[in-house]
Amino acid sequence: MGRTLPLVALLFALGSWKPASAGQPARAHHAMVVSREVHATEAGLAVLRSGGNAVDAAVAVGFALAVTHPAAGNIGGGGFMLIRLADGRTTFLDFRERAPATASRDMYLGPDGALTRESVSGYRAVGVPGTVRGFEFASTHYGRKPWAELLAPAIELAAKGFPVSGDLADSLKNARPKLELFPDSRRIFLKQGAFYAPGERLVQPELAGTLGRISSAGAREFYEGETARRLAQAMAQHGGLITLADLRAYQVVERQPLTGRYRGYDLVTAPPPSSGGVGILEILGILESTGYAKSGPGSAASIHYTVEAMRRYFADRSEYLADPDFVRVPVAALLNKPYLAGLRKSIDPERATPSARLRPGAPPRVESSETTHYSIVDAEGNAVAVTYTINAGYGSGVTVPGLGFLLNNEMDDFAAKPGAPNLFGLVQGEANAIQPRKRPLSCMTPTMVLRGGRLYLVLGSPGGPRIISSVLEVIQNVLDFGMSLEDAVASPRFHHQWLPDTLYVEPGVSPRTAARLAARGHRVERIGSMGEVAAILIDGGSLQGAADPRSEGHAAGY
Ligand code: DON
Repeated sequence: MGRTLPLVALLFALGSWKPASAGQPARAHHAMVVSREVHATEAGLAVLRSGGNAVDAAVAVGFALAVTHPAAGNIGGGGFMLIRLADGRTTFLDFRERAPATASRDMYLGPDGALTRESVSGYRAVGVPGTVRGFEFASTHYGRKPWAELLAPAIELAAKGFPVSGDLADSLKNARPKLELFPDSRRIFLKQGAFYAPGERLVQPELAGTLGRISSAGAREFYEGETARRLAQAMAQHGGLITLADLRAYQVVERQPLTGRYRGYDLVTAPPPSSGGVGILEILGILESTGYAKSGPGSAASIHYTVEAMRRYFADRSEYLADPDFVRVPVAALLNKPYLAGLRKSIDPERATPSARLRPGAPPRVESSETTHYSIVDAEGNAVAVTYTINAGYGSGVTVPGLGFLLNNEMDDFAAKPGAPNLFGLVQGEANAIQPRKRPLSCMTPTMVLRGGRLYLVLGSPGGPRIISSVLEVIQNVLDFGMSLEDAVASPRFHHQWLPDTLYVEPGVSPRTAARLAARGHRVERIGSMGEVAAILIDGGSLQGAADPRSEGHAAGY
């Protein structure tokens, strides 16, 4: 536990609370892009304006964020892309990292059986990256623009540089303890310890070179070419596990999105190895028909109900959710109505159930997941929601020598020691233990909501387990509380993940509400901020885009 708490506190502290902006969301009639960073949003918009579709724009935004938002934007990580085409077809591209072939269950345990820090920092923390193959798959199967056009804005941003925002300058400075351990990270991102000032240009020639080779030769370059050889060589020199064979063997998996209904709306969301879609549907399924919303948004009663549902879901998550290619994940059973009714009945409207008394449920034996999110809708009505990540802000801290990009520390999303909390304080079980080539369980939850069969809401967020709460609460705010999109995104958030048995609330939750929750038996703790939602709402012929006032996100359309 000692290892976790300071890290969790640091993660929470990284996002300092900013009051909800009273600003209008972006409005447009044709197309909309909402991402974490202005240059990336502009890159996506330019692709849309020049005839690309939402998938083309998503690839361009993804490569641009790899340059302008190095904490999370990446080519050294992985993620999920949820696509809904204008004709109603949906798909889910899983380009999550995989464990290297020589990874093993106890690889992060020291001789004393205690967890080391190797799942978090340095070469051994890295899972085989999926982003470049994921983007190529998306472009080949669902895009229409030439590949090189999608990389062009990113290459220009890397080669010519872009002005460092105040937020990025602070973020890089805060990441010093992690980045200064690795010479290329220190040189590129910390300016050899001199730090970037707001307004100064960040120029990344090695990254421009890597992206240029990927532009000419395709994803093969990353997985089999010079990039692959240099990455594998650096791994071998520094005790990392990833080999050329691991890179060559990496595969994108196209999956069926998880779907469900809530109060007449259709949800299209992330299937395992995300735990997020199951989370949204299980929590909403417990809440449905409780009338919890009657007491109003932000009330102690509605927060209490939601938290009790979250607590029960996260207990189930710890036991049942994992990579479906390795473990049988009982999705249908967890979302089975009688099972959910049982969980609902176990909630006391007046008292918190202590997590220590709550075990993962026994779903019936029926058969039948620092990060960044962006949302795009094009003029034809195609929609894309992408959440991708290198896990913690700046990932493992490692920049591959000569290649200019940061590598993930996604291996920490496994249960490195089942039963012991990870970086996010999540307690996870055997199902998510490390195995060669397995994907670690994720919380990333790109999601869409349909109303009357038509696209209504496109959203997602970073935040580790708080992704699930952030996405859930924006959905509740729009669907159950009738808020405008901007209010729904700006509203104060709360989070409970079963263990630790703590109800985290943002400062915007009033002291009175916090006191009422404490009186119901919740251990309430205030934290800086959680999540950075990027959402689009489609209402008839008009599009509203909302970037989270908690971040420097940018929504723009035409
Ligand atoms: O896949 C996951 O659930 C995590 N690797 C996401 C990490 C994250 O959101 C960090 N952002 N604040």
